[in-house]
Amino acid sequence: MPHIVAGPTEARIRKQDEGMSKRVVVLGIQWGDEGKGKIVDLLTERCEAVVRFQGGHNAGHTLVIKGEKTVLHLVPSGILRHGVHCLIGNGVVVAPDALLQELETLERAGINARERLTVSPACPVILPSHVALDQARERARGSKAIGTTGRGIGPAYEDKAARRGIRFGELADPAKCIARVGHLLDYHNFLLKERFGESPVDLNRVAKEIERWSSELAPLTGDVSRAVYTVTQNSGNVLFEGAQGTLLDIDQGTYPYVTSSNTTAGAAACGSGVGPLILDVVIGVVKAYTTRVGAGPFPTELGDETGRFLADRGHEFGATTGRPRRCGWFDAVLARRACNLNSVNSLCVTKLDVLDGLSEIAICTGYQLGGELMDHPPWDAIVLEEVEPVYEKVPGWQESTAAVRTLEGLPTAARRYLDRLGELLGVAVDIISTGPDREDTMVLRDPFSLASTDSP
Ligand code: IMP
Repeated sequence: MPHIVAGPTEARIRKQDEGMSKRVVVLGIQWGDEGKGKIVDLLTERCEAVVRFQGGHNAGHTLVIKGEKTVLHLVPSGILRHGVHCLIGNGVVVAPDALLQELETLERAGINARERLTVSPACPVILPSHVALDQARERARGSKAIGTTGRGIGPAYEDKAARRGIRFGELADPAKCIARVGHLLDYHNFLLKERFGESPVDLNRVAKEIERWSSELAPLTGDVSRAVYTVTQNSGNVLFEGAQGTLLDIDQGTYPYVTSSNTTAGAAACGSGVGPLILDVVIGVVKAYTTRVGAGPFPTELGDETGRFLADRGHEFGATTGRPRRCGWFDAVLARRACNLNSVNSLCVTKLDVLDGLSEIAICTGYQLGGELMDHPPWDAIVLEEVEPVYEKVPGWQESTAAVRTLEGLPTAARRYLDRLGELLGVAVDIISTGPDREDTMVLRDPFSLASTDSP
């Protein structure tokens, strides 16, 4: 059973002492899978509420507490802390069947998530036909497939933008909802049959599911925007939990090899119904190397022994789909860009221990393209495919850093490596993770004591 510690009562007392609410965003600054879930879980010890603001159950946030592993896809990673209010903001696409499954898993582990979970009525609902369309589109793309998680994320966001989607609040009135879904299925089934030559989705089956979703999930609906506002008015800390990573952002990422939402810090505000000035701190979570799942450019990818070493050591398999992740050296060009896109003012480096035993480590500090040296990424993913990374080589270390919990306990070369990453990105490394467990973490600078104006 997952281990639960500390609750918001202590958090509240501590906040009252300090007298001010802090709003902290935690997001990935690579292609996702940076280990955000663990950091969110760790920091929620100091929070009253955690908000998911984009993405859906394409995310896979793995938490390990005292050796016990829990993978969350939709429910915010604060759920393992007693009393923390977990909020799913309007920017998240919600698959009701996946949400139900996750709630049941948590219940079996002794966590009554329903008591502490609120879902915005404005969340777009992912229907079985969105899943069918996502998978049909990927099949039709053939060798040009994006490598989506196949969970209906893209088609659900499409319907939101086209203003024909179903929203979570509509589940409260199943008869009306089924009628609306009927119209939408007409359209989806037309595409499935006529465009992709695939089987249609049966309305009767979906209607039965809607009745169940209505009775089991509609009671979770609530005003997320107001909930965040109330916590902040009461001097409580709020954590905004990003999913995927900056380089998968629909606008700023490696389009079209991206997800369908904005994964950058601005989305924390519009995806939860708060204004941008509410945000105090943006923590950029970054692996000590780079990984990517799915297709798309990856300049520092290693197709050799070292790539396999990183994959094996880092257990680099997707938490959602189980697909092997592509691995490569740290790309400071893309990470620096990501820091700028998000106003990152605090860095968290994860999986440092995966680099243990390498004699030399490379950091990409620039790109070479057609004889030209670039210190920033091109806007076009096709051009990013063509760049040659320029590497700076630094000494590795032979000692184990696994589960090291003090800066002094790290080998000098590991400390130098971290300092160099901070220097290249222009942001201080405040948190270091040396293992999957909640305890294997060093917090060098407390994010709740940083102000938004703090320079990195
Ligand atoms: P989608 O979000 O399922 O549409 O997939 C689009 C792209 O984002 C694919 O390359 C996926 O592998 C990637 N992706 C989606 N969610 C995650 C995640 O949580 N971690 C890493 N990659 C992800």
